[in-house]
Amino acid sequence: TKVVLAYSGGLDTSAIIPYLKETYGCEVVAFVADVGQGAAELEGVEQKAIASGASSCHVVDLKDEFIKDYVYPILKTGAVYEGKYLLGTSMARPIIAKAQVELALKVGADGVSHGCTGKGNDQVRFESTYAALAPQLQVIAPWRDWSMRSRPDLLNYLAERNIPTTASAEKIYSRDANAWHISHEGGELEDPWCEPTEKVWTWTVSPEKAPNEPEYVSVTVEKGEVVAVNGQALTPYAALDTLNNIAAKHGVGRIDIVENRLVGMKSRGCYETPGGTVMMEALRGVEALVLDKSAHHFREQIGLEFSHLLYDGRWFTDTAQAQLAAAESLASKVNGEVVIKLYKGQATVAQRKSDNSLYSEAFATFDEDEVYNQKHAEGFIRLFSLSSRIAALKEQEK
Ligand code: ARG
Ligand code: SIN
Repeated sequence: TKVVLAYSGGLDTSAIIPYLKETYGCEVVAFVADVGQGAAELEGVEQKAIASGASSCHVVDLKDEFIKDYVYPILKTGAVYEGKYLLGTSMARPIIAKAQVELALKVGADGVSHGCTGKGNDQVRFESTYAALAPQLQVIAPWRDWSMRSRPDLLNYLAERNIPTTASAEKIYSRDANAWHISHEGGELEDPWCEPTEKVWTWTVSPEKAPNEPEYVSVTVEKGEVVAVNGQALTPYAALDTLNNIAAKHGVGRIDIVENRLVGMKSRGCYETPGGTVMMEALRGVEALVLDKSAHHFREQIGLEFSHLLYDGRWFTDTAQAQLAAAESLASKVNGEVVIKLYKGQATVAQRKSDNSLYSEAFATFDEDEVYNQKHAEGFIRLFSLSSRIAALKEQEK
């Protein structure tokens, strides 16, 4: 038998390779998704997998597809989980699990495995994707089966088998990175009274140490997608990479939240999404000019609904796909340019314009105008508030 493991090169999945071989007597094929987590994590990952006992290791470059086919469509929905979390980990799980399944089918594997714990959201996201795309595959989640509980347990397990590792017993935070974000959980962050120190943050400078001068960055949006930064046309991945670098210097995109996990408990997480925060601000900035009131409110509803579906690992469902299609349709006129001001942790829209703008200075002005007859408002308000008037009159009759 053969199992394809979603492998990261970290301690957990390194221990899973011998565990699978010993427990199931299977061949283990390592699968590594490159979703832009960075060179440091990917360096030497193939050799590590082989040294741990994998029969082969496949690194698949998903960076462009991740931004083009997952991040950008999600941005059009405006999904933000519980008002703050830009969903970086949730966005990446469906594409990683899908590519894993594709490899499993290609190499004729009988099962798939991952290194998620039994307490988190990620196990649900991986396994919901397996279920939707290849229900015949057996699913093995070692963290729910084995008796090991800590990093020293895992290090012992590898040492007993003479498997080399550079992992240390002390690793404070559980981190997850891709092109869109990096997450930090665990360690002292598990105490919600404990403010995150500079040891937590890895991508952004602290707003306190950010430059005293603001920086302005221009973002060009077409059909709800960022197509250029500072006037330079860029692919989706390059645009995100560029904005990550610019925004990180200004401490933009840090958040610290207590969130509700799908499996029931609350957890505390810190996230860094510098470029994503700028993109989100830019899209919403153009959208504000282009969408009329009802279209805008509909987009907000989609964003709320989609944030729940995505967080809960329900990407490969008819509902999620229908919401993505609706968001795509709403974004069809969202073209324009926004200038974002980056300053000490904040990214704010300073200027915006669009050929499809519905904004009319002639109508909105507080100065004198000829186009809007204020008398029309009187009848409008009388009818708009008629039900309140009737209710109040009835009350007075009592
Ligand atoms: N709490 C976030 C989420 O559920 C981040 C999860 C991070 N995952 C990880 N394996 N460290 O999306
Ligand atoms: C894990 O438990 O494997 C990571 C955190 C999460 O999935 O929510």
